[in-house]
Amino acid sequence: MRAGEVRERFLSFFERSGHLRVPSASLVPSVYDPSVLLTTAGMQPFKPYFRGDEEPPSRRLTSCQRSFRTTDIENVGLTLRHLTFFEMLGNFSVGDYFKAQAVEWALDLSTSKEYGYGFDFESIWITVFGGDDELGLGPDEEAIGYWRAVGVPDERIVLLGRDDNFWQSGPTGPCGPCSELYLDRGPDFGPESDRPGDDTERHLEYWNLVFMQYELQADGALPELPTKNIDTGLGVERMASLTQGVPSVYETDLFGPLVGLGEELSGRKYGDDDATTRALRIIADHGR
Ligand code: ALA
Repeated sequence: MRAGEVRERFLSFFERSGHLRVPSASLVPSVYDPSVLLTTAGMQPFKPYFRGDEEPPSRRLTSCQRSFRTTDIENVGLTLRHLTFFEMLGNFSVGDYFKAQAVEWALDLSTSKEYGYGFDFESIWITVFGGDDELGLGPDEEAIGYWRAVGVPDERIVLLGRDDNFWQSGPTGPCGPCSELYLDRGPDFGPESDRPGDDTERHLEYWNLVFMQYELQADGALPELPTKNIDTGLGVERMASLTQGVPSVYETDLFGPLVGLGEELSGRKYGDDDATTRALRIIADHGR
């Protein structure tokens, strides 16, 4: 499945479920958001809606947002999955549906062979927020309950802490506990003892569901937002690597031609040795 189809399947699925499809905003954030230099996530253009400062054109939105993560730059080329610039597919609820519906749709789109990505249910693992003393929050029992309700056994539900499963777009702003979907890519990518969240390659995180209900303030206070919201992010490049059955984002139809151009211009070959592979990946990422 080429990347174009990865995008279209996501956006049309959520359109059919009552979401308004909106185009990507600029990579340069709007003037109202001085918290970041470049747009880092699909939710960024929607912050005024989550905060209740502006009325959204629809309470359900879906988009494919150009995003940039400067924080990942040192990882580029070393792992199979990190990029600086990437595209993030998302479905968003501004005070409309919440955890139960977000969980159901994520699983449906992940597993449907007809209109989704066709993953085996047994290969999908889930991480859930396990609580944090500083934030004064306990484990997200609600989310655990909804994953159990759609049939995910406890063995495949992993509780993780604030670093992994509490999402905020910057030091302050709309935020909340999150729950991530991982695909077990099998023994070619690592031993069975690998677990989601332990920074190994066997389980690839492909979708993050944020249950956005708080506004983190500079003094650490965590008041509730006016509404309970959903903010999700699915990386187009990672999904393309899964649906194309290739080991890394660099072998997808999105990056293959760029890596090929690097090979042609340098006379080196991807895969020759680690330094060359890393360099060709970096050139492809930065070039894009
Ligand atoms: N905003 C969430 C993220 O970027 C979905 O992971």
